[in-house]
Amino acid sequence: DRMEVIERLNGIDLPGHLHTPMSLQLAQNFEFKEGDVLIVTYPKSGTTWMQEILTLIYSIGDDEIAKTVPNWTRTPWLEHTYFKDIITEDDGPRIITTHLRSEVLLPQLRNSKAKVIYVARNPKDVAVSFYFFHKMAKFLPDPESFQNFLKQFLQGKVCYGSWFEHVKSWYNCRQSLDFFYYITYEDMQKDLRGCIKKLCKFLGSPMYSKEVDRVEKHCKFSNMSQNKMVNYMLIPCEILDHTQGKFMRKGVVGDWKQHFTEEQNVMFDKIFQEKMSDCDLQFVWD
Ligand code: PPS
Repeated sequence: DRMEVIERLNGIDLPGHLHTPMSLQLAQNFEFKEGDVLIVTYPKSGTTWMQEILTLIYSIGDDEIAKTVPNWTRTPWLEHTYFKDIITEDDGPRIITTHLRSEVLLPQLRNSKAKVIYVARNPKDVAVSFYFFHKMAKFLPDPESFQNFLKQFLQGKVCYGSWFEHVKSWYNCRQSLDFFYYITYEDMQKDLRGCIKKLCKFLGSPMYSKEVDRVEKHCKFSNMSQNKMVNYMLIPCEILDHTQGKFMRKGVVGDWKQHFTEEQNVMFDKIFQEKMSDCDLQFVWD
């Protein structure tokens, strides 16, 4: 009962239906402008969390929009089929989301004055979260066992391609883009308030302490997982099978320790070192 249609862009598989040749063409030709904020992530790295934080920063802590408009409408995915019907020519700020690689988007982003926020997460936790998401997402292939999925993940043979190439491709753009902000899921877990304040600074949207309080409170996992506009419970079961798991699954750091065998961990570390040897990013996750 899987919807096995796959699109391909620059050799990278993307789930069909949401992506079509036309939607990908439009994404590649999209004209960014000043005021646009682009959230860039590899899946399962904190996309939804960042969408919510930015929504709340721009509403100065008022949760009206966050509680009444689904995240895919207020912070739409550039590459999805419905994007063209949602995006307006408003002055913005337009919050746009993407999982696409920098090779595809850098030409239009350069000199566009758009602000790019890249969220990265410990790839071990990404692999676990992505595995559980595959179990419920009917538009992704059946992951079979975790062992099987992890192998494919490490080889980059999954939808959205290699985690390693994604992070590197975007991190290497930091000098070519006027406004680039790199942040991790782990940073947000450790000090959400501090992250919100830094993001406000980057976006040029100062807030009073009381307003930061509201953003912080709204964006806690316990609160977001109850919000139908972001917890994906509105998506029908034929697309996201809610009997197989929850989109807002655990929301913690280090869950990989519950799922990796010692052998898998050794294999992961070895491949991580090989793949990231040409990247000077310093990771602080354990
Ligand atoms: S997607 O499908 O790419 O949009 O998924 P994404 O939103 O990037 O990642 C989903 C994971 O993020 C967790 N999440 C959160 N963690 C902490 N705090 C908050 N507020 C929060 N919101 C979402 C979500 O639970 C998924 O991680 P796992 O590890 O599966 O729980």
